[in-house]
Amino acid sequence: MLAPALQPTQGTRVSDPGLPTALRWGVVLPELPPRPGLPLQPDELRELLCAIRRQYRLSWEGIHGVGHWARVLDAGLRLASVTGADPEVVALFALFHDACRRNDGYDPQHGARGADLAASLVAPRFEGRTHQLELLLEACTHHTGGRTDADVTVATCWDADRLDLLRVGIHPSPRKLCTAAARDPGLIAWANDRAVRDHVPGFARDGWLTVSPA
Ligand SMILES: [Fe+2]
Ligand SMILES: [Fe+2]
Repeated sequence: MLAPALQPTQGTRVSDPGLPTALRWGVVLPELPPRPGLPLQPDELRELLCAIRRQYRLSWEGIHGVGHWARVLDAGLRLASVTGADPEVVALFALFHDACRRNDGYDPQHGARGADLAASLVAPRFEGRTHQLELLLEACTHHTGGRTDADVTVATCWDADRLDLLRVGIHPSPRKLCTAAARDPGLIAWANDRAVRDHVPGFARDGWLTVSPA
């Protein structure tokens, strides 16, 4: 194990992320937590993706783009079925947390900009449920801070994002995951395998990749 001083904020960088983690570590994938249905109607999901794409500055299918959001959504909903997180907040976090990046590198304010965009587009749906809206905005704003202490819904959002780190060559560190559900070695192996293959979950293959900003 690396000395604490050598541990990066959210994980351990590996030199060869090309092989599926399940093969590199000989892990037999266990049964995963179930993924509940998407908590957004198809029409409203498409409308949100169109609005996000209208202002998105980077490659739609890039490392912080729609494939990543779909994997975060998939993992987040599975985690939520175990942690008790609010699935609607988790789903909207997946869409908005990286929606306002201005580059694929150092961009420390992108979470706050994503929260602002979320507030402008989805605040009405949370009328009478301000606590959920606050959780969404907190999760977006602080998702890159490396914190592990948060409300369970916020923590589940952050874990879903961190479980996809191997797509950029960073092995998710269990010490930097917030929930016991996310620290499950089998779930980490499953997420790592999808991350290195840039896997797009089935629910996102129709419509997400080709969504028009019009
Ligand atoms: Fe981000
Ligand atoms: Fe992300």
